[in-house]
Amino acid sequence: MITDKMAQALNDQIREELYSAYIYLSMSSYATSVGMAGVAHWFRIQTQEELTHTDKFCNYLNSQGSQVILQAIEQPPCTWESALEMFEAALAHEQHISQCIHDLSLLAEDEKDRATDIFLQWFISEQVEEEENAKEVIDQLKLAGSDGSGLFMIDRELAKRVFTPPATNA
Ligand code: FEO
Repeated sequence: MITDKMAQALNDQIREELYSAYIYLSMSSYATSVGMAGVAHWFRIQTQEELTHTDKFCNYLNSQGSQVILQAIEQPPCTWESALEMFEAALAHEQHISQCIHDLSLLAEDEKDRATDIFLQWFISEQVEEEENAKEVIDQLKLAGSDGSGLFMIDRELAKRVFTPPATNA
């Protein structure tokens, strides 16, 4: 059993995770439209990851006897100037999500809700990885600069990303 305040905050986070899936799907779609197949694939995998995050929050709310109440999701942007701009936007978005998760964890502490705090630990670690993944690509893109063959190679590397579902779906 969790408090109504905690349930509301977790429902808000479901909207954040679905928006994450939405913006990455938009990035994937844009990348496809401009011929960056590897970038498109990378963001498509990222979309899948966000849907597993959404699932985790839904399953947790259900396990606590709380209803999942879906909220409106705002329209994401649909064009970017370059692959670098997309990944910088992705990093900024992940930093925002990290802050949301930290705020949830602080709320769980305030509510003396140990179970939710433990549940959120997985996301705290996951966010470190999420930010790192985007930063890694940003570094590569900055190194390549406007070198067409460098960008081509990066696009090919990004095409190799594999979706790995989380070990548990608790
Ligand atoms: Fe669900 Fe990328 O944070």
